[in-house]
Amino acid sequence: MVASTITKIMAFRPVSTVLLALTSMIRQPVTGSLADAGSDSDHVPSLLDTSITELAMLLDTGRLTSHDLTQLYIDRIVEVNDEFHAVIEINPCALAIATELDRQRAAGLAKGHLFGIPILVKDNYGTTDSMLTGAGSVCLAPAPATVEATVVTRLRNAGAIILGKTNADEFSGARGINVTGGWSARGGQTFGAYVEHQSPCGSSGGSGVAASLGLAAAALGTETAGSITCPAAYNNVVGIKPTVGTTSRYGVVPVTLRQDTTGPLAPNIADAALILDVMAGVDPLDNYTLAQPWDGPPSFMAALHTSALHGKRLGVVWLDFNPLSPSDWVNKNETKTVFDASRQYLEAAGAVLVDVPLSSSSVPLGSLISWVRGNMSIYETPDLRDGLQAYIDTIPADIGTVHSLETLIGCIESDPRERATTYSYESLVAAAESDVSAGSEEVWEAHLAASGLTRSLVVELIEDNDVDALVLLSDLALVLGAAAGLPIVTVPMGSLGADSQTEWDSTNTTIQSAPGIPLGLSFLGDRWSDVELVSYGYAYEQVSQKRSLLKPYLQPRSDLASVLGHA
Ligand SMILES: *[C@@H]1O[C@H](CO)[C@@H](O)[C@H](O)[C@H]1NC(C)=O
Ligand SMILES: *[C@@H]1O[C@H](CO)[C@@H](O)[C@H](O)[C@H]1NC(C)=O
Ligand SMILES: *[C@@H]1O[C@H](CO)[C@@H](O)[C@H](O)[C@H]1NC(C)=O
Ligand SMILES: *[C@@H]1O[C@H](CO)[C@@H](O)[C@H](O)[C@H]1NC(C)=O
Ligand SMILES: *[C@@H]1O[C@H](CO)[C@@H](O)[C@H](O)[C@H]1NC(C)=O
Repeated sequence: MVASTITKIMAFRPVSTVLLALTSMIRQPVTGSLADAGSDSDHVPSLLDTSITELAMLLDTGRLTSHDLTQLYIDRIVEVNDEFHAVIEINPCALAIATELDRQRAAGLAKGHLFGIPILVKDNYGTTDSMLTGAGSVCLAPAPATVEATVVTRLRNAGAIILGKTNADEFSGARGINVTGGWSARGGQTFGAYVEHQSPCGSSGGSGVAASLGLAAAALGTETAGSITCPAAYNNVVGIKPTVGTTSRYGVVPVTLRQDTTGPLAPNIADAALILDVMAGVDPLDNYTLAQPWDGPPSFMAALHTSALHGKRLGVVWLDFNPLSPSDWVNKNETKTVFDASRQYLEAAGAVLVDVPLSSSSVPLGSLISWVRGNMSIYETPDLRDGLQAYIDTIPADIGTVHSLETLIGCIESDPRERATTYSYESLVAAAESDVSAGSEEVWEAHLAASGLTRSLVVELIEDNDVDALVLLSDLALVLGAAAGLPIVTVPMGSLGADSQTEWDSTNTTIQSAPGIPLGLSFLGDRWSDVELVSYGYAYEQVSQKRSLLKPYLQPRSDLASVLGHA
């Protein structure tokens, strides 16, 4: 499941796009673009890269209203969504909410940097507004959710505008192996923005693309095994996968609560940290958060120091095969070249680099990875069954036809939008047919095994080499961090060079690897090292500044110049 997005099998045919019912919201001919801004353009930031702090300053000083900012993001989505399919739905109340927040700001009631800032959320975050929540499936979304995700409520309480829902692999990749990565019935096929036909990676691909193109200030994703980390890398943005338990998962359509996390994708670490400060904390409705070791919620913003890596020892892990495509790693050498180049920035930020060979004292690595996979499949199936059923139970009995996994599968088989003859759904069938209890000894042991194998490997590497954290390729980090719920911070690292080969997925739908496809550097540590990892990512980002070197091949035209140009 999940990072299975990398392997695609069935043939792809163009999907009829989910229509954004927005015509009334599109502003008349958009003339504003940076190119039109003339001599002012030097001073007018672009929404491709404007930080939330900068936006907050523009809002505070009255140069920009939340209404205009929201309208700009809506225009930007409409301009590029036919190409990228990153967004499924726009909140029809977003402009009204923005106007109300502008009124509150004028009355001196604005609080915090997120006040009046539009944020997108992945389609598996329950929202009790008029939008639907489907985890990409039309079957799960007969009507708006009755339960709102705790982290969405927290964002709203901080004044953020929930602008819309992003596209993602349907059921976060837990539908079946033959679903093209980035595809959902509700959203169609998502593409990345750096190479035409680029895979967005999954499952939070729409969130990665949206954050990268400035379709909102940032977007929320979820990760079970790679679903924030991989799209962050592929889309040239920062992705923070918190320790399982740092942020609440309540109200989010689950895969397995043993591994699921909620976290931000944003153009830079500071924006992601700002959002995480609002998301993180104990939620009585998600008892994994009760295990937080901190006195009160952690503060990520307070940890942002350019000197955070001074004197820190980082274990650099390079593995000569890619655990996600063990038989054939196209562009391995080109990837290694970019990875090696990141060393100079880490050193310039003051880190001491220690090459640590990835090996375990007890188990050969090949067996370890296959054991982790094997054990994960034992608990994911009953967990998916119980988690989805619990979510389905929040759909009122008199709404729609889906009230069990069996009727969900029936809907997928009969609703043509779900394309059941093209895209398989065997993971859902396996879940529905499983009679294994999620609380059984066999299941607990499988999770203990998968989680113990990977966590002890990471902790051993850190302790035996006396390092503060590990730095590694995002693909490897996501494998090591999944089962044990370890935190991962991923930061843009550059892109594959001109000599790289182009590799399509097996259905010729998306390009997996090619010149110009972005790569991500990941920081990985033990449970609850989230704040330290964010601070290391920040110090690396400030020195390396890789994001701005890559430009999307197609960008939205509407930008701040049309609003600020004459200010
Ligand atoms: C959380 O609560 C559920 C029951 O509501 C229980 O099965 C589970 O073991 C608890 N998990 C933790 C980490 O306490
Ligand atoms: C990759 O690099 C290794 C070591 O430098 C070299 O032996 C190998 O031929 C290279 N592979 C390709 C495909 O260029
Ligand atoms: C689970 O992990 C254990 C090692 O802890 C291993 O012996 C076993 O074969 C694994 N199970 C599967 C199904 O891979
Ligand atoms: C996935 O597609 C392949 C190739 O068409 C096929 O052999 C396989 O049976 C399919 N798997 C499922 C679960 O549908
Ligand atoms: C993908 O394209 C290649 C090269 O054009 C072709 O050989 C292959 O048959 C195609 N595969 C599919 C599944 O269409």
